[in-house]
Amino acid sequence: MSREHVMQGSAIAHPNVALVKYWGKRPARGNLPAMGSLSLTLGFLSTRTTVRFDPAGGQDALTLNGRRNSRDLKRMQDCLAPLRRRAGESGSATAESRNDFPTGAGLASSASGMAAMALAGASALGLTEDPALVGRAAMAGSGSAPRSLHGGFVLLSIDPEGNWSCASLLSPEEWPLKVVVAVTQAGPKQTDSRSGMELTRRTSPFYKAWLASQSADLEDARRAVAQRDFGRLAELSEGNCLRMHAAAMGASPPLVYFNGATVECLHRIKTLAHDNRPVFFTVDAGPQVKAVCLPDVLDEVCDALGQVSGVRQVLSGDLGGGARLITG
Ligand code: PMV
Repeated sequence: MSREHVMQGSAIAHPNVALVKYWGKRPARGNLPAMGSLSLTLGFLSTRTTVRFDPAGGQDALTLNGRRNSRDLKRMQDCLAPLRRRAGESGSATAESRNDFPTGAGLASSASGMAAMALAGASALGLTEDPALVGRAAMAGSGSAPRSLHGGFVLLSIDPEGNWSCASLLSPEEWPLKVVVAVTQAGPKQTDSRSGMELTRRTSPFYKAWLASQSADLEDARRAVAQRDFGRLAELSEGNCLRMHAAAMGASPPLVYFNGATVECLHRIKTLAHDNRPVFFTVDAGPQVKAVCLPDVLDEVCDALGQVSGVRQVLSGDLGGGARLITG
């Protein structure tokens, strides 16, 4: 490839929601999570990103949703670093990224953002033939981003030495669950997940117990997905979510990502489940609630959450595929 010209690539990726979550990094191992995780890729939300490398040099720059963004520039540079190293590319990088959903509010925009960034960057440098490298670039940007490179039900496994792999367990068609997102707060969350999980790891007396419970949850959830056992997956996901938040609430100072409407949504979902509706909840590092359900109760779940006081918007749809290249 000629290094004389600007090199450009574009990609689209969907955010994902973890049912078995990661919350805590391995100390002194860069961005590597301390535990594996299992997620669903959300086909109805997306991030589109274009990356350009200019061999003539200049400053790296990131534009997010039409605005220059210096806060996330380091994350973009971390993500592109493995690709630049491999390609021996020393010029400048500019990226333009756009989300069609609220950014930085607990809807996993960092996962879709860094998956799209890694794939677009790899495309610009002619490196898409090496999926492991694209995965490492996504991981360097965000610990949940490698999952957004894949579609449907996704497992990220990490062994005790820190070797990791990420793959789809089932495609969206193989188990077509629906996801409903109740947006309870429009602005960005107060504590971003990277600092929140580090504070939890360093200060929460519950962190060790959380870490110790992860591998059993992950194995049980993997089995529940393979058997398409909705009831078991519901039980595991809700328990795992609340344990993550309990560990965070035990941090010093405490981290409370829920607001009043978040808690009210959880109760509404529990009431539906008690009335034999196949639905369960999960909440990431923000106040938004995600309900996972079977298709025949989707409308009922959307209506129930839309009626909760404090819910500003209800988004819903199908599981989606992995990140893919688009024409810029
Ligand atoms: O990878 P990050 O920094 O976006 O952190 C993700 C943390 C959670 O969303 C709360 C859990 C997860 O596994 O996605």
